[in-house]
Amino acid sequence: MSKLRIAVQKSGRLNEDSMRILKDIGISIDNGKDQLKASAKGFPVEVFYLRNGDIPQYLKDGVVDAAIIGENVLIEKGEGIDVVEKLGFSSCRVCIAVPKSGKYESIKDLEGKRIATSYPNTVKMYLDKNGVNANLHIINGSVEIAPNIGLADAICDIVSSGSTLFKNNLKEVDTILKSEAVLAVSPKMDEERKAILETIQFRIQSVLKGRQ
Ligand code: PRP
Ligand code: MG
Repeated sequence: MSKLRIAVQKSGRLNEDSMRILKDIGISIDNGKDQLKASAKGFPVEVFYLRNGDIPQYLKDGVVDAAIIGENVLIEKGEGIDVVEKLGFSSCRVCIAVPKSGKYESIKDLEGKRIATSYPNTVKMYLDKNGVNANLHIINGSVEIAPNIGLADAICDIVSSGSTLFKNNLKEVDTILKSEAVLAVSPKMDEERKAILETIQFRIQSVLKGRQ
């Protein structure tokens, strides 16, 4: 019998809440911390612990069937992947921020400027929509340091509490999109796995109702 392969973030902000919702729907996993793959007890599910940024490609390839992932990651590189449930945790927004003393009235102020980001496609969509040309510097983490070291005039990154911006003397000036954790599915799933997914969705809906 097939198992539904579900990807979760290996470590980072989504990991804990992802494991909690799986547990709440009855998928319990005793996972030695270093394991990258684990089977659930009493339910046809395997959990894969992966890097956030790799998950969209695994879904596209059908190497995993479903994933708990930030919607923002799918918007950045998850074209063709469907979201089937919003999960109500890990809310954040993808924002433009500039140095506290900087002037910013609209995105047009970034014409010809340098923007550091881990979300180049998302930023580019926003710039194009507004007819603005800017130079993107792609960095994979600690993006907020870029203006302070003279690498960029602005940044675009995830903001949750706002504390990282504050600590780096930046201010949030524009919101490109809002995001939360979602259940996303591979376009390549077979019928047998779709049936398992349906059960999982049903259980998730009950758990989320109970949390309200
Ligand atoms: C994330 C994100 C922001 C920060 C936002 O970084 O890239 O920097 O969290 O959260 P806050 O508004 O609550 O401060 P993370 O700490 O995951 O590290 P990384 O950027 O180095 O991957
Ligand atoms: Mg960061």
